[in-house]
Amino acid sequence: MRDIRNTVILTGAGLSAESGIATFRGPGGLWEGHRVEDVCTPQALHRDPELVHRFYDERRAKLADVAPNAAHRALARVDAEWPGELLIVTQNVDDLHERAGAMRLIHMHGELKSALCALCGIRHAWESALPPESECPDCGEPALRPDIVFFGEMPYRMEAIERALGAADLFVSIGTSGAVYPAAGFVQTARYHGAETLELNLDPSEGSGWFGESRLGPAGTLVPRWVEEMLGGL
Ligand code: APR
Repeated sequence: MRDIRNTVILTGAGLSAESGIATFRGPGGLWEGHRVEDVCTPQALHRDPELVHRFYDERRAKLADVAPNAAHRALARVDAEWPGELLIVTQNVDDLHERAGAMRLIHMHGELKSALCALCGIRHAWESALPPESECPDCGEPALRPDIVFFGEMPYRMEAIERALGAADLFVSIGTSGAVYPAAGFVQTARYHGAETLELNLDPSEGSGWFGESRLGPAGTLVPRWVEEMLGGL
């Protein structure tokens, strides 16, 4: 721990599972009763905008009924107290990291509480339902869509993420199956640049073999314990 200064933490759906938000690849491979390709691709949005918008409206509305869990709170604490560089990169589109108080945070797969204009590309904070053909407050066109990075689209802030991975002494992956690239490849990038690598997950992820250390269990237990270790070693 003594040599660790720069840390990158990747989080996935498993982090929010104990808050009551369903993971993507749960039993049956369905996400809240839908095949991922029916609600999470540009083709699906084109084919059935009503379904896709309604699906994310429901997810956005559900945020009012859930709260950050012990793992979100522990990560907010390490963010506040860690003196070195730290970046939390989340694949989650919920707002539980920020509600727990995390500041050094990138939502690489977009955010439920945001709408994206498909024409002008401006992103708008969005709390309520977002029917298809909602007008963009900037350009006025009826082109707002959920600000979710669909399969086949480029995740946000990749340059900043790659830079942080290149400088990381420690890479920690929490609650992600390692099934979706580019996030699934971050462990290899971090290793290549000499970082120590740690996985905290309920089950071994697809890329588990890439990690120097893998701890299995619920995030609500493992993450606070790991944060204690990190901050205790300062
Ligand atoms: N604590 C820790 N890990 C957990 C918990 C828990 N309480 N519950 C589940 N997990 C683990 C599962 O074992 C699984 O490995 O979390 C992981 C969740 O995997 P996915 O459902 O595949 O979620 P994620 O890896 O975040 O998905 C990546 O896929 O569909 C896309 O864009 C979507 O961001 C998402 C991306």
